[in-house]
Amino acid sequence: YTAVKELFRHTSQYVNQEITVSGWIRSVRASKAFGFIVLNDGTFFENIQIVMDNTLDNFMEVSKLNVGSAIIVKGKFIETPDAKQPFEIQAASVTVEGASSPDYPLQKKRHTFEYLRTISHLRPRTNAFTAVFRVRSLVAQAIHEFFMSRGYVYVHTPILTGSDCEGAGEMFRVSTLDPNNLPKTEEGSIDYKKDFFGKETNLTVSGQLNVETYAMAFRNVYTFGPTFRAENSNTPRHAAEFWMIEPEMAFADIVDDMDVAEAMMKHIIRFVKDNAPEEMAFFNKFVDKGLIARLDNVLNNEFARITYTEAIDILEKSDEKFEFPVKWGIDLQTEHERYLTEKVYKKPVFVINYPKDIKAFYMKMNDDNKTVAAMDLLAPGVGEIIGGSQREDDYDKLVARMDEMGLEKEDYSWYLDTRKYGSVAHAGFGLGFERAIMYVTGMSNIRDVIPFPRTVNNCDI
Ligand code: 4AD
Ligand code: MG
Repeated sequence: YTAVKELFRHTSQYVNQEITVSGWIRSVRASKAFGFIVLNDGTFFENIQIVMDNTLDNFMEVSKLNVGSAIIVKGKFIETPDAKQPFEIQAASVTVEGASSPDYPLQKKRHTFEYLRTISHLRPRTNAFTAVFRVRSLVAQAIHEFFMSRGYVYVHTPILTGSDCEGAGEMFRVSTLDPNNLPKTEEGSIDYKKDFFGKETNLTVSGQLNVETYAMAFRNVYTFGPTFRAENSNTPRHAAEFWMIEPEMAFADIVDDMDVAEAMMKHIIRFVKDNAPEEMAFFNKFVDKGLIARLDNVLNNEFARITYTEAIDILEKSDEKFEFPVKWGIDLQTEHERYLTEKVYKKPVFVINYPKDIKAFYMKMNDDNKTVAAMDLLAPGVGEIIGGSQREDDYDKLVARMDEMGLEKEDYSWYLDTRKYGSVAHAGFGLGFERAIMYVTGMSNIRDVIPFPRTVNNCDI
């Protein structure tokens, strides 16, 4: 079969040729004598129009096909300079590969994203979701290209783990114990020694701790995989299962960390603009009117870089009435992030050096003993898109911090080895993959950028 993408990209090679295409019907209109089919073959965002007439022996059958039917069309590819679509196929034969039932839920009218979420197995057949999920695939490609071309090694960190990287206690427990017959210790608590791994285990919240150990061997590494958080926050930006890209660089500090993050974000935007112009034009027209202009502005300017203390200062001095009171020490809330990125800077903003009390144990303590070398990237419309830091590379300081936070040294002895055997300054970050997709497409709900979303009370399809 000739790919419809080929017909659009290399039209002149196919004009007036006999070709065969195959795909799914998006719409059929037919009179007694003529018919028009709009077909999408999956290779391209745009559809191709098929024209047919009643000289086809199965003209009646084809005219009555429902939307969603799969067909194979042989015919002549011709240019139609005066019509709305630049070319069409004059069908010489149409083979029905698989008819669709009349109850096909995707009719030609526009459906709401909310409705389409209830049929997440069918929604990739719509314009909007064809665009979203092709872009999602391209962003993954862009990310791999970015790191691979810079010599980073791709490390596959485990999904099943015994540790809690972020220390937030938001883990999904993994157990093979029979809930109706739980083994008990002498004290009466559940005896996880009898569980599959001989200890309590969970799905990973981040591959960082594991990938850090590989940075001490390969210098520059990244992991890119699914992560899981049992956060009970029902927001448009939180999913229980999401993908994260986590680079880690040895002999690097927090400024290097920001430099990598900024170059990566710009590479992603450039790659998607170059490789999905039709999809991006669609988002710009139907989803988020200022999208392309905004992304161009991001490409042509440097991201803002401010400290947490400066951010608090800006928020305190602003006339905006925030719901959540601003005060040094708070975690920045969505409204604060929006104000900084959408009102003050109108572009992505790095915020660094957060209070140690609101950040994870592994971050490098700054000389003020109050803040750590944390680095978050906030983006207009999405909020926190990246969380990262320079890591504490001093063994004694790290152990002291773990004691302060009540972490068991025995559980992390393997991690502490990195600080014992050739420790170096190192830094890394985690990019929320779905939030990156939201940012480049303008889609406003995380449920609409992951094929089968898992959120509170939703693990259906
Ligand atoms: O800020 P976080 O929690 O950082 C880490 O996990 C570090 N260990 C990363 C590192 O330094 N290697 O998460 C990183 C990013 C967030 O900025 C956000 O984009 C995304 O992951 N994220 C989520 N995305 C969707 N749903 C959730 N529930 C998310 N939680 C975090
Ligand atoms: Mg974070």
